[in-house]
Amino acid sequence: MTIQRVGVIGGGLMGSGIAEVCARSGSHVVVHEIDAAAAEAALARVEKSLGRAVERGKLDEAGSQDIKGRITFSTNLDEQADRQLIIEAATENEALKKQIFADLDEISADPEAIFASNTSSIPITRLGAATTRPDRVVGLHFFNPVPVMALVELVTTVKTDEMCRDAVRGYAESLGKTVILAKDRAGFVVNMLLVPYMLSAIRMFEAGVASAEDIDTGMRLGANHPMGPLELTDFVGLDTTKFVADVLFDEFKEPLYASPPLLTRMVEAGLLGRKSGEGFYGYD
Ligand code: CAA
Ligand code: NAD
Repeated sequence: MTIQRVGVIGGGLMGSGIAEVCARSGSHVVVHEIDAAAAEAALARVEKSLGRAVERGKLDEAGSQDIKGRITFSTNLDEQADRQLIIEAATENEALKKQIFADLDEISADPEAIFASNTSSIPITRLGAATTRPDRVVGLHFFNPVPVMALVELVTTVKTDEMCRDAVRGYAESLGKTVILAKDRAGFVVNMLLVPYMLSAIRMFEAGVASAEDIDTGMRLGANHPMGPLELTDFVGLDTTKFVADVLFDEFKEPLYASPPLLTRMVEAGLLGRKSGEGFYGYD
């Protein structure tokens, strides 16, 4: 199966990056968003990322226009009907994602079409159960920023068809990504390790052990991480981090996955990190 027609649901931080890397590899991509303003914001994110690549001499203007020409933005889910692979990258909310999968199942005209979710944590089996084709539903978990990060986690369930798994694996590799396989447990491989670390840093900050700057400098210079854990939480989004923590806590019932009160309060106050202009740090 050669995948050329791709759909992306949600053009936020992740969906815009996923659309970009798919279009860079030659696929034609239709990005679905909730309204015209969100679709425009998605286009602006793609343009900013391509503009950065042009500025750095990694891409010429014609190449950038070609890539942009392979991406269309839509607010009509029916435009996903002819897609061979649909990658859902909407907000981390189980009820919302289940509804999207159920709608796609009705709209998709191709019984061979594959549905993938970029969820950070939600078990894929539950999303597959919202469709009549759970054998063709996988997790395809990209990392932020998508054009830069080399990894993709491919999550299969007890129902996943092996040929479907192999087709998605081949496609992710054709994007230049390294694929690791994970079983269907909340958080898969990376977030089951990374998120408790981010939550521990928030607890440390909340307890007043050190300033945000010193916690981050500690992990940047003391462990050679590219970003400290609080910077990283701002980068990922505090809302997404809390959603993921809640799903992990719900699955494992371990205190280490519980959202610290400070994280919960910051999300309630709309301090979502870079995307809202303020989190543990302020942004222009
Ligand atoms: N979009 C596209 N490209 C970007 C980018 C973005 N948002 N940010 C940086 N880049 C590119 C730059 O263009 C540059 O590319 P070239 O090398 O080709 O010129 C490269 O990345 C390095 O950028 P900079 O020199 O400007 O910045 P940096 O060296 O500080 O690196 C970073 C920026 C790559 C984001 C780095 O800080 C980093 O790796 N941070 C950690 C990221 C991380 O851990 N991500 C995982 C988050 S967890 C997750 O994704 C899972 C989940 O489910 C929550
Ligand atoms: P985001 O808030 O930046 O974007 C979410 C987008 O989904 C928004 O643009 C919103 O308008 C759109 N959306 C909401 N409901 C929709 C619907 N019904 N149809 C179409 N679009 C809809 O969030 P994000 O960081 O891009 O996260 C998206 C997904 O990717 C989540 O499942 C998240 O867990 C996962 N993820 C996030 C990161 C990260 O670092 N932020 C990394 C890996 C995976």
